[in-house]
Amino acid sequence: MNSENPAAQAEQNSNLRPDGSKKIVLSGIRSTGNLHLGNYYGALQKFVKMQDDYDSRYFIADLHALTTNPDPKALHESVKQILAEYLAAGLDPDKNILYVQSDIPEISEMYLLMNMHVGIGELMRTASFKDKARKALGITSENDEIEKEIIGNQNNNARVNAGLLTYPTLMAVDILIHHADYVPVGKDQEQHLELTRRFGRRFNSFYGVDYFKEPVNFNFGGEAIKVPGLDGSGKMGKSEGNCIYLIDDEKTLRKKVMRAVTDAGPTEPNSPVSQPVENLFTLMDLVSGKDTTDHFREKYADCSIRYGDLKKQLAEDLLKVTLPIRQRILDIRDNDEYLSKIVKQGAERTREYAAKTLKDVREIMGIRKI
Ligand code: TRP
Repeated sequence: MNSENPAAQAEQNSNLRPDGSKKIVLSGIRSTGNLHLGNYYGALQKFVKMQDDYDSRYFIADLHALTTNPDPKALHESVKQILAEYLAAGLDPDKNILYVQSDIPEISEMYLLMNMHVGIGELMRTASFKDKARKALGITSENDEIEKEIIGNQNNNARVNAGLLTYPTLMAVDILIHHADYVPVGKDQEQHLELTRRFGRRFNSFYGVDYFKEPVNFNFGGEAIKVPGLDGSGKMGKSEGNCIYLIDDEKTLRKKVMRAVTDAGPTEPNSPVSQPVENLFTLMDLVSGKDTTDHFREKYADCSIRYGDLKKQLAEDLLKVTLPIRQRILDIRDNDEYLSKIVKQGAERTREYAAKTLKDVREIMGIRKI
C-alpha cells in the first residue's frame, strides 16, 4: 500500500497520526474456549510489545460468541477466562483499554443503524458465513446452493440465525465506532476487514460525508509468526484440536507433545525434513532458541535423531513459557473484584468514544431531536 509514495509510506509506518496523537489499534477475540500458543505468539505477545506506543484497545467479543448459541454458563466463564489470560500474558490494563463488547450498548445500537446499509447478498457471500451456515444445516458438499437451502428450510431445528448473517456488520461497528487505524487480525479475518472498509465507504458516500476512515490490518512491523499445531498439518487452531493451551497443566502438555505426529525418521543423511517434523522444529525455534534447534537439526541430518529426545526437550522448553502464565491465570481468574474493576474501567473509557461516534452517526443519518 502506498509503496510509490515515500511520504505516505512514512506516515503509514509511523505510530502517530498526523495530528500527533497515537494511532488507534483495535482487536477483539470471541469468547469461545481458551487461548492457545498460536494466540500467544501470533497476537498477545505483539500486543504486549506495542502497549507503550499505540492507543490500543482490546475487547472480548461476547456478542459475536452468541452467534453460535453457546451455553450461558460457558459463555460467562469464557469471558472471564479470556480476560484473565490477556492479563496473565502481560497486557497492562493501564496501558490498554480492555473491555467486554456487551458492556458497550452503543455498539448494539450502531449495529442496528449500520445494518440499514448492508446487503444481505454480500453477507451471504462471506466465506465465514457460508461455512457456518453449512454446518448449521448439516450440508457437507461445497457446491450446495446455501441460499435455496436457507429459504426453503422449514425445519426449525436447523435454522441459520440472523445474527450469524450479520456477524460482519457487528464486527465493522466494533472497528468503526473507535475510528481505528489498525486492526491486527489473522488471514481468516481479512474478508471481514474488507467489508468493514466497504461499509464505511458506503456510509460516507451515501451521506456525502468524510466520516469513517479505512482501517488496515497490521503486523506490528514484524513478520507474521506461524505457530504450527501438533497434528502434523497446518497452523495451531481451536477447531483443529491440535493446540497447546496456556492453561494446560504440566502433565497434559507433556502428553500432547509426546503424542505429536512425526514420521519414521531419516534413513539417508541430509534427507529433506517432512512437514510434521519441520513443525516441531518451528515450535522449538519459538521456545528453545536456535542453538537447541540446530543441535537437533544436525542430528536429523546425520540420522542419529531420536524423536523422543526432541519431544522431551520441546516439552521442557514449552513449559518454561506456559507454566508461569498458567500460574498467573489461576491467580487472577477467580479474583472477581479485580476483573470487574478492570472491565468497568475499560467500559467507561470505551463508552466515551463510542457515545461520541454514535451521536455523530445518528445526526448524520437524520435521527435528530424534535
Ligand atoms: N471475528 C473475529 C474473530 O473471530 C473477532 C472480532 C470481532 C474482531 N470483532 C472484531 C477482531 C473487531 C478484530 C476487530 O477472530
